[in-house]
Amino acid sequence: METLTFRRDLSQHPKSETERAEILDNPGFGNYFTDHTAVVDYSVNAQGEGSWHDARIEPYGPIALDPSAAVLHYGQEIFEGLKAYRHADGSIWTFRPEANAKRLNTSARRLALPELPESVFLDALRELVSVDAAWVPSGDGEALYLRPFMIATEPFLGVRPAREVSFRVIASPAGNYFGGELHPVSIWLSEHYARAGRGGTGEAKCGGNYAASLAAQLEAEAHGCQQVLFLDPFNDNAVDELGGMNVFFVFKDGRIVTPELNGNILHGVTRSSVLEIAKERGLTTEERKITLQEWKDSVADGSLAEVFACGTAAVITPIGELKTTTGSIVTPEPDGEPHWKAIREELLGIQTGTREDTRGWLT
Ligand code: COI
Repeated sequence: METLTFRRDLSQHPKSETERAEILDNPGFGNYFTDHTAVVDYSVNAQGEGSWHDARIEPYGPIALDPSAAVLHYGQEIFEGLKAYRHADGSIWTFRPEANAKRLNTSARRLALPELPESVFLDALRELVSVDAAWVPSGDGEALYLRPFMIATEPFLGVRPAREVSFRVIASPAGNYFGGELHPVSIWLSEHYARAGRGGTGEAKCGGNYAASLAAQLEAEAHGCQQVLFLDPFNDNAVDELGGMNVFFVFKDGRIVTPELNGNILHGVTRSSVLEIAKERGLTTEERKITLQEWKDSVADGSLAEVFACGTAAVITPIGELKTTTGSIVTPEPDGEPHWKAIREELLGIQTGTREDTRGWLT
């Protein structure tokens, strides 16, 4: 197992305890960042051999990049998202970080970036969380959101994989992604834009996929919706995913359905955890194509019970309606305790230490 020792160059100007407490009082999502960042650089030598080196913790701050850095021109960038949770005894735990390490490398292969040894990924998280441990919130539904990312830093305008790359981790105290209390969200159906196509980068976690979702996200907001849903127009309008989350459907007969991993769908860590928890709850899990027509028909014939979004940032958020240019598909009112709620409680319970981690998901 490859290891690198992280040098520590600690911030001379960390936020004061009072500033930090004010931030932790109402962090929102993605607004504030901790005092440090973890960095590991990669370069290819004259013999064409690449290596990761210069692992370090440094003060959080702007990155000096050459204006010709490849990431700024060709978007050679990938990222991850996971959270660190504070348990009642003060200890801090991350949720399935090795799954994020693996997915980062799947994305790296698709974007022709170098793979990062999983042990280095995990050490970077451990180092950053230990120096910024005071930033891990303990409020209900709160956690320290960790954002590992990899960028092509080589100053070169030719179109080829960069030979200089930087891997970094930043951390941001986070509450509910959609702000305030948890409520069913409205989502907008993107009819003009697709998020991914066959052979494209749909299953990679790269900035380009999210940039491509923004025009549709603006449409969504203009129609009073919080997220946008993409379909695959070349595959019978199969449900793809939301701008930044996977989607699930629960049927009254006990089936829980999510689009299969067909190359377009992000391999969500929350998605796979939901499938495992749902199976243990006795639901029948189906990873398969589900079309917009099936969604409409199952609301019309009364067989659909719930629709929800899931992701690290969103956790599990119920979807109240899908708005389209021709009308709305409204999720029926729950008849008793919805499955999404029980699954969310189980997931958050494991993450925050109030339920037993029988699957070894916590590190
Ligand atoms: C995450 O859930 O971690 C993501 O990367 C999605 C983004 C909408 C915040």
